[in-house]
Amino acid sequence: MCGIVGYIGTEDAKEILLKGLEKLEYRGYDSAGIAVATEEGVHVFKEKGRIATLREVVDQGVKSTVGIGHTRWATHGEPSKVNAHPHQSESSRFTIVHNGVIENYEQLKRDYLQAVTLQSDTDTEVVVQLVERFVHEGQSVEAAFRHTLSLLKGSYAIALLDKKDTDTIYVGKNKSPLLVGVQDGVNVVASDAMAMLQVTDQFLEIMDEEIVIVTKDDVTIKTLDGTAVSREPYTAELDASDIEKGTYPHFMLKEIDEQPFVIRNIIQKYQNEDGSVRLDEDIRQAVMEADRIYIIAAGTSYHAGLVGKQLIENFAKQPVEVHIASEFLYNMPLLSKRPLFIFISQSGETADSRGVLVEVKKLGYKALTITNVPGSTLSREADFTLHTHAGPEIAVASTKAYTAQMAVLTLLAADTAKAKGIDLGFDPIQELSIVANAMETLCNQKETLEKIARDYLAVTRNCFFIGRATDYFVCLEGALKLKEISYIQAEGFAGGELKHGTIALIEEGTPIVALATQEHVNLSIRGNVKEVAARGAFPCIISIEGLNEEDDTFVLPKVHSHLTPLVSVIPLQLIAYYAALHRGCDVDKPRNLAKSVTVE
Ligand code: AGP
Repeated sequence: MCGIVGYIGTEDAKEILLKGLEKLEYRGYDSAGIAVATEEGVHVFKEKGRIATLREVVDQGVKSTVGIGHTRWATHGEPSKVNAHPHQSESSRFTIVHNGVIENYEQLKRDYLQAVTLQSDTDTEVVVQLVERFVHEGQSVEAAFRHTLSLLKGSYAIALLDKKDTDTIYVGKNKSPLLVGVQDGVNVVASDAMAMLQVTDQFLEIMDEEIVIVTKDDVTIKTLDGTAVSREPYTAELDASDIEKGTYPHFMLKEIDEQPFVIRNIIQKYQNEDGSVRLDEDIRQAVMEADRIYIIAAGTSYHAGLVGKQLIENFAKQPVEVHIASEFLYNMPLLSKRPLFIFISQSGETADSRGVLVEVKKLGYKALTITNVPGSTLSREADFTLHTHAGPEIAVASTKAYTAQMAVLTLLAADTAKAKGIDLGFDPIQELSIVANAMETLCNQKETLEKIARDYLAVTRNCFFIGRATDYFVCLEGALKLKEISYIQAEGFAGGELKHGTIALIEEGTPIVALATQEHVNLSIRGNVKEVAARGAFPCIISIEGLNEEDDTFVLPKVHSHLTPLVSVIPLQLIAYYAALHRGCDVDKPRNLAKSVTVE
């Protein structure tokens, strides 16, 4: 979703801001802009569409060493040049970029800005007009900024320029991600460290309801009441090459291919010298003490949670519920006496999950976050974190983060089982190594999978994925992958459920992808395939060695029966990728979607 950057130093700010915005493109956006300050004033350049379009309108003749930039994912007001950020105050003294949602902006307009003609439909513009109003009333800029932020309800990461003081960027944060990067004689602002790795790898975390006064040589953090806060920077352990596509045409394909490496990396990070699973004692303790685990997540991470439930219940005999983050607070189940909450989130910034975490902490319960971004909000605010070690995931469609989440859940489940004295009868690390090898085999079968995508999905308008038991969960993920990047209407169903209604949608040639990797439901899912084939469907059966039959379309290498989701999803990811490619879709940046969903 929206991303912000800021730069104050000695180099040409325009190029650094534009490059920073390009690194934030993966988050999803529909317009972009930058503002740079010179002695003559603040120059704003903004456009609807891609950064490449913005580049064309930026006046290269404007020289500046300070500026702010923004990618916008529309929430209030359509995607347009007018609604794109930066926004300016009425006198154009102040210029702002904002990520988040100001929930009370209508109220603020009525209470404070009746006399101001707003230029855009955004919630953001209210913020910059309020700062100007309070400055006109005699407050210092810093006081006006703090006063304004104290009136806001909702989420924000904000950067503000004052044309009368071009040596300062004012920054504020609540609920939306924001970092300040530091370096000798240059400081930066970014929603995400990746955007400013070009300048520094030293970053300061900013907490909710803090402001930061950023100059070229100094960074001052304060609370909204003006109390100074001191904090040391940390080193962002990111490799700049991880966020490049290299020779790949798309990040998604690169990230699919990285999965065997990610699984081996996870094994390495969570393995003791004697080959056993290594987890923090505190985490083991928290899981053991819980009488029920509640997994909270969204989208693909929710699908990993469904598999996680099976793993924890089967291995550790511990009851687990899995909930969609955006629904949990409205449909809260009766909680057990000693719950443990597990938040699964690639980004660690998903607002829906964070909303639940905040409530859970208020209720005094323990929380563990499984995330790919250890310094993220969900990681910081939970009691414990398990890192998925997948490396930056840039493509909007999550692939390697999903398999990494399931691998970490496997280790968590196995570790809990061991702590409870349950003998699994197999070595989880050994089984994950077999998974990594199987993934490699599958990644080498791209031509076959491309052909399947062409044969089944080239012209269809819909597609159904069916499976039973754990295969059903992978079907949900396969359908999500296909729909989000190819725009084919795709749905995942439990094999036995189709005949209760959805079978009415089956027509001559409707593609049905069926997963058959589970022995105990193999016959029944094959029966379901026959039901739909008899009604004209075009079935694509993906089975596993040992359960395969002659006419199966694709056969997976054998892995442990509890770990099949880690391999069965790979052909589904690749089929989705090639289907999207054949349809000419923007694979890495699908329409309407954002990588990091930071609004509720
Ligand atoms: C999946 O491909 C999507 N990008 C989306 O469903 C994603 O998994 C969801 O928004 C949750 O994100 P998170 O893991 O960062 O919390």
